[in-house]
Amino acid sequence: MSCILQTISDDKALLAATICFGVIGALFTAAKTYSFVRMLLDMLVIPGISLSKFGAGKGSWAVITGATDGIGKEFAYQLAKKKFNILLVSRTESKLQALAGELEQSNGIQTKTYAMDFTQGNQSDYSNLGKLIDSIEVGILVNNVGTNHDIPTPFAEESDETIANIVEVNINGTLKTTKLVLPQMKARRSGLILNLGSFSGLVATPYLSVYSAGKAFLSTWSQALGMELARDGIVVEHINTYFVVSAMSKIRRPTFLIPTTKPYVASVLSKIGLSGGSSTPYGSTPYFSHALINWLIDNLFTTTFWVKQNNAIQTDIRKRALRKREREAKQQ
Ligand SMILES: NC(=O)c1ccc[n+]([C@@H]2O[C@H](COP(=O)([O-])OP(=O)(O)OC[C@H]3O[C@@H](n4cnc5c(N)ncnc54)[C@H](OP(=O)(O)O)[C@@H]3O)[C@@H](O)[C@H]2O)c1
Repeated sequence: MSCILQTISDDKALLAATICFGVIGALFTAAKTYSFVRMLLDMLVIPGISLSKFGAGKGSWAVITGATDGIGKEFAYQLAKKKFNILLVSRTESKLQALAGELEQSNGIQTKTYAMDFTQGNQSDYSNLGKLIDSIEVGILVNNVGTNHDIPTPFAEESDETIANIVEVNINGTLKTTKLVLPQMKARRSGLILNLGSFSGLVATPYLSVYSAGKAFLSTWSQALGMELARDGIVVEHINTYFVVSAMSKIRRPTFLIPTTKPYVASVLSKIGLSGGSSTPYGSTPYFSHALINWLIDNLFTTTFWVKQNNAIQTDIRKRALRKREREAKQQ
């Protein structure tokens, strides 16, 4: 009798355990499915916040740092087309003047320029830029300026100058420029701040350690800032970027995973306020193939697995870059 009772109670325990694991499995699968479907909806169906909310065509200005090449230049083209006046901030005066003239002529908008080298961290530059910013109504700030290690380099061998430049441009430049626009955005209870992030901030990237950590900083700071400023009516978005064709990426040919700047920036501007493939608050991975990779990183394998992938990629890039340097040295 006691043996029968024991068997019944074992069966009950087994059934309870099976149901329990079944429920956990179903919840887990439902959560993963939901996040995947939500990403597809963001990418393919749901429209982002309209740029008219930030003053497109109503005399508002977009301030773009690092505006004379690559992604920043494309933001200038596309925001000018949406009828924002543009304040271009970058390093090279001649490139600023040429772009400003082109934007005014093609779009009938106003432009202003300010040439500064963010590596210098010059207080007078920020105070001059602040005066310019105070003279216009800023609807959008694109914190785009960025610099990187010249080639993937072990931290121990990286020059102090490169390390200081990355910190000064990518971190301090972004913090100081953002501070300049906040008083007026808060007073108007309106504004959009886009921070150009990188997948190397999502997954630590050996041999680009300072750039990678700087972009992780940007992601964390954007999340905190986004939460703080939401009550002031200001939208903060950290744009998670995989590779894009540009001088910085040193990639010239686009692929499915690596777009040119034009479709990339178009995806950013059409998906404001949507997460896309990003799972961090106030983060967005708006470009379709980048969103898929972001989703895979967040949902498959371990962080160590992905860091090892980055390690393999950068080790390979470093080898090729060193070989190129050797070839160039021989030719001289
Ligand atoms: N391209 C990618 O694959 C990729 C991936 C992830 C994230 N991102 C991020 O996207 C942003 C833009 O990158 P990008 O690829 O478009 O770069 P890019 O093509 O190299 O253009 C950089 C722009 O920033 C300006 N700039 C660079 N250093 C400066 C300094 N010290 N002071 C003032 N201006 C400076 C450059 O001015 P000049 O015209 O005078 O050179 C140029 O206009 C960066 O924040 C980068 O980290 C890019």
